[in-house]
Amino acid sequence: MCGIVGYLGDGNVYEILINGLKRLEYRGYDSAGIALVSPEGKLNVYKTLGKVSNLEAYCRDKNLTARAGIAHTRWATHGEPSDCNAHPHYSEDGRLALVHNGTIENYQVLREALQQHGCHFSTQTDTEVLVQLIEYIRTSNSCTLIEAVREALKQVVGAYAVAIVERGNPDTIIAARKSSPLVVGIGDGETFLGSDGTPFIEYTDKVVYVQDDEIAVITRDQPLKIINLDNEETKVDVKKLEFSIAQLEKGGYDHFMLKEIFEQPSTLTDCIRGRVVDNAQRVLLNGVFDHKEKFMDCNRIIVVACGTSWHAGLLGKQLIQDLCAIPVEVEYASEFRYSHPVITERDIVIAVSQSGETADTLAAIQIAKAKGAFVYGISNVVGASIPRETHSGTYIHVGPEIGVASTKAFTGQVTVFTLLALAIAQLRGTLTQPQIAEVSGHLQQIPHYVKETLKLNDKIRQLSLIYTYARNFLYLGRGYSYPVALEGALKLKEISYIHAEGYPAAEMKHGPIALIDSEMPSVIIAPHDHLYDKIVSNVQQVKSRGGSIIAIVTKGDTVIRDLADHVLEVPDVPECLTPLITSIPLQLLSYYIAINKGKDVDMPRNLAKSVTVE
Ligand code: M6R
Repeated sequence: MCGIVGYLGDGNVYEILINGLKRLEYRGYDSAGIALVSPEGKLNVYKTLGKVSNLEAYCRDKNLTARAGIAHTRWATHGEPSDCNAHPHYSEDGRLALVHNGTIENYQVLREALQQHGCHFSTQTDTEVLVQLIEYIRTSNSCTLIEAVREALKQVVGAYAVAIVERGNPDTIIAARKSSPLVVGIGDGETFLGSDGTPFIEYTDKVVYVQDDEIAVITRDQPLKIINLDNEETKVDVKKLEFSIAQLEKGGYDHFMLKEIFEQPSTLTDCIRGRVVDNAQRVLLNGVFDHKEKFMDCNRIIVVACGTSWHAGLLGKQLIQDLCAIPVEVEYASEFRYSHPVITERDIVIAVSQSGETADTLAAIQIAKAKGAFVYGISNVVGASIPRETHSGTYIHVGPEIGVASTKAFTGQVTVFTLLALAIAQLRGTLTQPQIAEVSGHLQQIPHYVKETLKLNDKIRQLSLIYTYARNFLYLGRGYSYPVALEGALKLKEISYIHAEGYPAAEMKHGPIALIDSEMPSVIIAPHDHLYDKIVSNVQQVKSRGGSIIAIVTKGDTVIRDLADHVLEVPDVPECLTPLITSIPLQLLSYYIAINKGKDVDMPRNLAKSVTVE
């Protein structure tokens, strides 16, 4: 979802900005644009609908000399995707150019007020309102640009990360943030801006995460200055970026998604490293042990998340209930935030988010904190807003996930939930030491079993050819396999655009069974667990209605083999760890079906990697 890049320095401004935009493509967007301030202070803005490559083609014969610049990929919220609505937006007099990530909720009121003062608008966007407001304040109050930005941001309701450049001033970029990510990269005599660190990782690993209600003033030959909306200077806290450029490349795979699926043996090793200790006798999770009393005292856990992270939360619920006997509720963050939740100080709220920037999850955290809950984060991106906003937490450490469809982050989240459940069980004594050692020992072997499961790749590629043109899919599972079914269905629909529904297998007879015929394949997740006999009946129910069945079963299964049209055998692991294995064939199946259909799996239509608006 919208990406911002900025650069001020002696390098090739245009190239740095365009390459930075390409790095942010994974976030999802529909148009792109760039504003360049030439050494003489001329402000040139170029923007186009479509990919960054379109923008490059458009810029080929343009004046690209610059000393500073800002650039943007837009994911439309207010106003259709178009050349005109693409960012940067100008003030009416053409003095300012601004890029924005987020939404200005009171833009209509502000727009009408500005119109009454004679302002004219040329786009449908909320962003144009902000840039016009800044310029209006500057001219009517005869104040500096920074003062005008401070004043305008005080009037704005909503979320924003913005960057602004000014005609006649090639030596300054002003940037600000509220509830949308913004990072400043400090180089040697040059300064970068990004929605995250990916646009400038090859130039510097020194970063400053701009905080809510802060303004970063980037000026040539001067140290970075950060002020708040009341003009008080705040400390510039320089941190180190924790990923490498190699992690942002495809490494020989055709797509990031395939690379990320195949990386899982090593990402899960990284996720577990240092956390299963003493020969798998014990789990060490500092985020829990540093707040022992909270976990000892808690009488309910509420998980808040969106999308795939919500599915991981459903598995977290089963793990924590089974291993720790603590009641767990799982809420969509977008519903939770508006549901007047009843929360007490003895509740722990766990916020799960790969990006660490999802707007609804962030808002849910604020509500939980305001009501006195202890909030624990499970995130991937180090230093993102969610890990910073939570009281404690655990990183999944699976490296940058670029494919929009989440794969390795899902298995990382489920692994962290397993570690978390073991750590709490250890603290509260709900499992015996041998029981902890048994699950931990198997968890340590999971990367090896994932590697074994990935050997199904060729078989799944062949299988995908049979089902590429199915128009609907049903994914069924029970117990630990039910969230896996939901996740499998989400994976298929988001990258292949095939309608797919995940269902608890036993619920099927209360409605979805009506859909089953020879045109409707069912993917049934049926490992050898305590519900195995039950799901065999569900398989029979599908079979007897003429539906075709792809079953994910434990190696050596004979019963379902005779009923299903296709079986994919996975290694035998303890029931609570099965999702880490059974989700792998579903990731591959959706990948190959989407590839067969010629879809852009890494950047599916309409989707954004980091959903920073409501
Ligand atoms: O970054 P988050 O984990 O908070 O993102 C939540 C969802 O937007 C995300 O999981 C989405 O559903 C993915 N596209 C799923 O593959």
